[in-house]
Amino acid sequence: MAIEALGYVGLRTAELADWAAYGTKFLGLQLAEQAATELVFRMDDRRQRLVVAADAADGTAFFGWEVADAAALDATAGRLEAAGVTVMHGDGALASRRHVAGLIWLEDPLGNRVELFHGAEPADSPFRPGRCISGFRTGPLGMGHAVLTVPRLDAVLPFYRDLLGFRLSDWMERPFRAAFLHVNPRHHSLALIETGKAGFHHLMMELFNLDDVGQGYDLALNEPGRIATTLGRHSNDYMLSFYTRAPGGRVMFEYGWGGRVIDPGAWQPQELRFGGSLWGHDRQWLSPERQAEARAMCIAAAAEGERAPVQVLEGNFRLMPGECPWWDSALRRAAE
Ligand code: FE2
Repeated sequence: MAIEALGYVGLRTAELADWAAYGTKFLGLQLAEQAATELVFRMDDRRQRLVVAADAADGTAFFGWEVADAAALDATAGRLEAAGVTVMHGDGALASRRHVAGLIWLEDPLGNRVELFHGAEPADSPFRPGRCISGFRTGPLGMGHAVLTVPRLDAVLPFYRDLLGFRLSDWMERPFRAAFLHVNPRHHSLALIETGKAGFHHLMMELFNLDDVGQGYDLALNEPGRIATTLGRHSNDYMLSFYTRAPGGRVMFEYGWGGRVIDPGAWQPQELRFGGSLWGHDRQWLSPERQAEARAMCIAAAAEGERAPVQVLEGNFRLMPGECPWWDSALRRAAE
């Protein structure tokens, strides 16, 4: 597949003044550039990952999806044009604003601006987080995942899956319809949620250390109305996370730890049996009826013993000695 990762995202906001503090003191991003109408944030060794521009209303401006090189970009542009898609070729001025070597862009069926680029510029200094966190899990997995709301799944899914080459990870029908798509071993880099409305649902950023997320939760608890979805664990990417409302309130950020990686070559998509979460994730953005349905699904998942091992990285866990007869027997039973 040509697209390899979510590279950068552009947002619009009517609350730019509040965004600098939200981005640095809560999310832990580094404010790389600050102008009267735009903030540029870093989250790793790249020069920019998130661009937030002042506008009359909150929303998205662009999504930057990364391909390997100029040849891959040209081949993708040719393939899209042959399929009848209108492809715009970004000029040098746009490439320099995005800090990439080259890009094209097109619109998805809902009018979201989808940019495909190669050659992201590295920063000339080490990443300095805005608060004391261990850092963000990016690299070949990209900057995280983006989730769009769509009026009808079937009207948008073919664009990303069949035209752009995203692959289906899994899907769910309840408590809302959603499809999860991957472009690398991150379980999903894009998801589409059928809410009846076109919009942006959330951007997920993954931290290296569980305590980064817990300490972020403490910060969010201190601000009335900040938390949009309580702490919980997803049933498909195993992410332990919570969601906050970004300044303006219309865009959410998922702040997570312990996401799984998959083998894209061997992965078989399937329907999620228990909705989106193993536990938690009380979704305050759902209608009361759907919220109740989601809670009932979590309780059913617990009743059936639905669980998954935590997904760790070298250096962020310590294995305890297996000295508990009960746990040892539980492990033996699970292995059988
Ligand atoms: Fe998410």
